[in-house]
Amino acid sequence: MSAVLQQQPTHRITRNQDFEVLAFDAPLGAEIVGIDLSTPLSDSDFARVHRAHLDYHVVVFRDQRISPQQHVEFSARFGPLQRHVLKQFALAGHPEILIVSNVVEDGKPIGLGDAGKYWHSDLSYKELPSLGSLLHAQELPSEGGDTLFANQHLAYEQLPAHLRTAIEGRSAEHSYLAKYAELQQNAPWRPKLTEAQIAEVQAVVHPIVRTHPETGKKALFVSEHFTTRVVGLPEDESQALLNELFALSSRDALVYRHQWADHDLVFWDNRSVTHLAAGCPDHLRRKLFRTTIEGDRPF
Ligand code: SIN
Repeated sequence: MSAVLQQQPTHRITRNQDFEVLAFDAPLGAEIVGIDLSTPLSDSDFARVHRAHLDYHVVVFRDQRISPQQHVEFSARFGPLQRHVLKQFALAGHPEILIVSNVVEDGKPIGLGDAGKYWHSDLSYKELPSLGSLLHAQELPSEGGDTLFANQHLAYEQLPAHLRTAIEGRSAEHSYLAKYAELQQNAPWRPKLTEAQIAEVQAVVHPIVRTHPETGKKALFVSEHFTTRVVGLPEDESQALLNELFALSSRDALVYRHQWADHDLVFWDNRSVTHLAAGCPDHLRRKLFRTTIEGDRPF
């Protein structure tokens, strides 16, 4: 008599959800309406979200009542998660979540309060910069606190010819430490780094124009926060070129400005946008949880 093999289910079957992707009237961004991320997405729903992320670069999910664990699990479907070098600002029990917050309790900051003070692409100072980040609102100020996103595909496409020529085939250095001392002077969020932390954030070199690994589109890949110099140019020329690129890549015409509402989850593509936190009055509390997904080596 032949043995009957017991079939074990290999993965959970989840039903598709009825949601829509609505593009913003802006140079980037869309809202995904009618989705609930507190239940795992089916493979086909996940594929639609993934497509929307590639098409619009920033996707907004309103009113997501998700736990930190659900935030981590959804993020991890896109790739391995990265841990921020300032481990003291990781959420307890969730080392993949960075607390972004201006709140100081008992004289100690509970999170990184100046994470987005300058335009940047998350973790561009790593050999493998971030694919994307997911920021989930926990506590919002009654005034201010917006996040701005700038489309770096358009920034590249709209560069004047002389700048395109100037950056053709060039690379630039990115350093986590570029503005560290300056930030340290102005707020309590930047502790003295240990030797091990400094070793974790050695400067790296990336192409100034990168090719998006999933869409093949070119994007400018420099930022005011982390890009320190153009390789192979004298210091003054390098700084002048970077200043022009910084100004052109954050023009209003390239920007979507996100006004946060309770429980918003915003997922952006660090390979195609840069972002900036507009800030809020110091006495108003702002707290969000961020995951970052590891991306490819820029090319
Ligand atoms: C960040 O740069 O990841 C934080 C953005 C924000 O606080 O709005």
